[in-house]
Formats: sequence, structure tokens, C-alpha cells
Amino acid sequence: MTTTPHVLVIGGTGGTGSEAVQQLLRRGAEVRVATRDPERARTLPALAGAEVIAGDSAVPETLAPALAGVDKVYYVPPTLPGWDEVQSATVALAADAGVRHFVKMSAIGVAADEPSMSLSFHWKGEQEVQRSGMAWTHIRPSSFFQNVLLLDVPSLRDEGRFYAPLGDARVAKLDTRDIGEVVAVVLTEPGHEGAAYELTGPAAVTYSEMADVLSEALDRRIEYVDLTADEYEAHLVATGWPEWVAVEFASIYGRGFYRAGGSSFVTTTVEDLLDRAPRSFADFAADHAHVIRG
Ligand SMILES: NC(=O)c1ccc[n+]([C@@H]2O[C@H](COP(=O)([O-])OP(=O)(O)OC[C@H]3O[C@@H](n4cnc5c(N)ncnc54)[C@H](OP(=O)(O)O)[C@@H]3O)[C@@H](O)[C@H]2O)c1
Repeated sequence: MTTTPHVLVIGGTGGTGSEAVQQLLRRGAEVRVATRDPERARTLPALAGAEVIAGDSAVPETLAPALAGVDKVYYVPPTLPGWDEVQSATVALAADAGVRHFVKMSAIGVAADEPSMSLSFHWKGEQEVQRSGMAWTHIRPSSFFQNVLLLDVPSLRDEGRFYAPLGDARVAKLDTRDIGEVVAVVLTEPGHEGAAYELTGPAAVTYSEMADVLSEALDRRIEYVDLTADEYEAHLVATGWPEWVAVEFASIYGRGFYRAGGSSFVTTTVEDLLDRAPRSFADFAADHAHVIRG
């Protein structure tokens, strides 16, 4: 006899999702992960103990089997152009499937009129979840420490530099491992329905200060190179990113919210929910120095 999964994680092979899965399992939840590549997912140590099922988050109707019998969902929208429509369809599908509590990955700084596609699409998605009839929780993190791994490893290795359009803005970045743990708490403990949690790390740091921390962790001098938003967009395209990704990163960091200091405040939400301090950028750098060095 099969048991009914309790929580479906859509995005469970990813940055915050894989940590959420581990933490959910640790808390005794039954966990199902929907993924485009079940075969690969079954080899991931982070997902050991979870049920893995086929479902492409970019094609919402393929998620129907994964949604069957589930009463809670953690949803990370897929990263692709026009993902707001995919998100709308997924929210509707989850509500129709009888999901009771929908926890949505969102972002700090969501607003209808932000130049960043992700900030406006997350804003739209939050409204849709709230209108869906499901209980909801919005996870609104600041920028991830792990973006360094996504964006900066080649230039850190080759040049001892990293590039961004932040000027001297402070950003209260945080670790995806802490976000995943927050998600697990929200899904396994009562009292989080109807909350929008703005998550930050323990300090708001400038990119020059991040360079100092990376220098220490990597034991070599690292420099931050400040670019305009247009220069940063061109830099990303030149280093192989699709144009829409380059536009998005240049917009979110250099044309609106972050460069204007929108995430320069620290919240106590991670500490309040986890009963411990959030990881610092120094913690992240020490834990990942071997990955960055290669
Ligand atoms: N980066 C930041 O600083 C930041 C800050 C605040 C909020 N956010 C938000 O956080 C989210 C990203 O979270 P995350 O890092 O946990 O997710 P992620 O690792 O980027 O992606 C989660 C999963 O989505 C699926 N996926 C990715 N691209 C796809 C595509 N083109 N088509 C279909 N499926 C795709 C993959 O699952 P499978 O391959 O298993 O199918 C992947 O494991 C975004 O919504 C972003 O706006 C990011």
C-alpha cells in the first residue's frame, strides 16, 4: 500500500528546494518532488527518502499527477521567459487539485511596477495565490549568497574579480540553505498561513565588503568591479548568458530595487523562525571556497 504524500516540492532539485526537502524529511514529513528528470533526481543525496515523480514545472499540466493527493506545496517557479503565465496556471491547477496550503517562493521588493521581471511576476503570483482560496505563505528572500556560484566563479578563478552594478549599495543577502529550512518550518509547524516573510541574512553588506570576505576565504586578493547596468548586461551576454537573463540581472540589481538600496535592511525573521542566527557571507564563503577555487 502506498502512503499519501503530504508535501509536494516543485523545484525540489534546485537551490532552496533541495534544502527544503532535506529539512522536511528531517521533520518527519512525507515529501514528493516533481522534476523534469526523475532518473537524475533519484541519484541526488539531498532527495534520498523523498518520492520523485515526473513533472515539468514549465508545462503546468504535467504536474497534475504530482499534485494528486497532496495537501501542501512549496512552489519555485521555473526560470524561463514569460514564467508568469506558467505560474498562474500552476496556482490554478494546485487549487483545483485540492491543495490546502501553498507556499510560494517570491522575493523581497515585489512590486507591480518594478523594471525587474521577477519582482513584478512574483508580485502578480502572490496576488493570484491569495485569490485562489488556498491558504498561503509568501517566502520573500533578499538576494542569495549562492548567486556567487551561479554568476561569478569563472571571473573569480581567472581574474580574481567579480562584476556587478550595485555601486556601494548595501544588500542584506542570505544563504539558500537558511531559506530552505524556513520553508520546512512553515510547512510543518502551525501558524504561518497568511504570512509574507521577508528573509535576510544577518547583515547588509556592500559588494566591496563581499570582496574582502572572499579574499579572506580564498586566500588571494579579490576585487569588486562596479559596472553600470548597461555594462553589466553586456558583460553577462559576453560571458554566455541568454539575453533575457542578462536583462533581468542588470535590471534587478542595477536599474531599480537593489542599487537603490531596497534591500539594505535586516529582518529578524530567519532567526525568529529557526531559533538561531542566519548564516553570514563569511560562513558561505568558507563553506564554498573549495567550489569557487575548483
Ligand atoms: N537568486 C536570488 O538572489 C533570488 C532572490 C530572491 C528570490 N529569488 C527567486 O528564487 C527562485 C529561484 O529559487 P531556487 O534557486 O531555489 O530555484 P532554482 O534552483 O533556480 O530552480 C528550481 C527548479 O526549477 C526547475 N527549472 C529551472 N529552470 C527551468 C526551466 N527553464 N524549465 C523548467 N524547469 C526549470 C528545475 O527543476 P528540474 O530540473 O528538477 O525540473 C530547478 O531545480 C526564483 O523564482 C527567483 O526569482 C531568487
